[in-house]
Amino acid sequence: MCEKKDILILAIESSCDETAAAVVKNGREVRSNVISSQIALHTLYGGVVPEIASRKHIEKINQVIEAALGEAEVSLDEIDAVGVTYGPGLVGALLVGVAEAKAIAYAAKKPLIGVHHIEGHIAANFIEHPDLHPPFFSLVVSGGHTHLVRVKDYGKFDIIGRTRDDAAGEAFDKVARAIGLGYPGGPKIDQVSKEGNPEAVAFPRAHVAEAPYDFSFSGLKSAVLNYINGCRMKGETYSQADVAASFQKAVTDVLVEKAMHAVEEYHVEQFAIAGGVASNSALRLAMKEACEARGVKFYYPSPVYCTDNAAMIGVAAYYEYRNGTRHGWDLNAIPNLKLGER
Ligand code: KG4
Ligand code: ZN
Repeated sequence: MCEKKDILILAIESSCDETAAAVVKNGREVRSNVISSQIALHTLYGGVVPEIASRKHIEKINQVIEAALGEAEVSLDEIDAVGVTYGPGLVGALLVGVAEAKAIAYAAKKPLIGVHHIEGHIAANFIEHPDLHPPFFSLVVSGGHTHLVRVKDYGKFDIIGRTRDDAAGEAFDKVARAIGLGYPGGPKIDQVSKEGNPEAVAFPRAHVAEAPYDFSFSGLKSAVLNYINGCRMKGETYSQADVAASFQKAVTDVLVEKAMHAVEEYHVEQFAIAGGVASNSALRLAMKEACEARGVKFYYPSPVYCTDNAAMIGVAAYYEYRNGTRHGWDLNAIPNLKLGER
């Protein structure tokens, strides 16, 4: 009998403040997923310091890769390809992963596959949802990106809308800092909002003229800053929980409204959210209700696969591998890489 060979991908992710490596089998089965987070370090500065991120990646990357291979109980010989995030992200941070992946792939004589970070975030949905296959729509909401994407096939995308200024996660982080919650703000706002009234403060829901699927969050961020500064000037106190909950509601309202507009216009049957902000409890609930009301199947990854990780890069690399994507030894980090570019 002819047995189909399993495909094992070693994946590396270092685009921001997580040094991560994973082994993924046949694109859907995570054999290991090791993440060394630098969050505690960057918290001291209130945000990611690129130079520190690169140095920390260099320090951690070998350990993380060894741990990923060890946990998966596979040797480099058994790996079929090495996948790595080569953009978008912080150039110095990306370079660490790309140089490492090239060195391993060259030494072990394995194919090298560069992966787009957002393609990875979207692919995170395949890990726990064996029934999910393209075509579907995705809303990618992270610290660096807010994209509404039509996933036409594995590795084939149309960007329908994007943010004109701040990314959704960036707005969460900035507002959290302003109301004294610290970094990273998203999970803290999510938590504190549970105690607050989302209708307490009427923050604006921004729309971009002539671009129904584009987002803008900088006006909302300014409105929150103006509100708290106004309170301070008048010597009044404000409720941190009410401001957090009202801000979170303003963000989720806009995200859900635009996503549902696309669902109706494009007759979408399956919708998947992705990226760090996709672990937000209010967004998950609102999207779930909105999708259910329209008979749309709704998918989201577990929190560990929403924020940066290498398993999602391994999944995306597997489908790129099957599509024939191979990169040469001249693969470089591209900080502003566009989705769908090779
Ligand atoms: O995907 P990710 O790990 O990194 C990027 O590719 O940017 O996303 C990190 C972002 C941060 O802005 C963080 O505040 C946000 O995701 N985030 C959240 C939550 N968990 C993480 N935002 C809202 N609610 C959360 N529960
Ligand atoms: Zn990310």
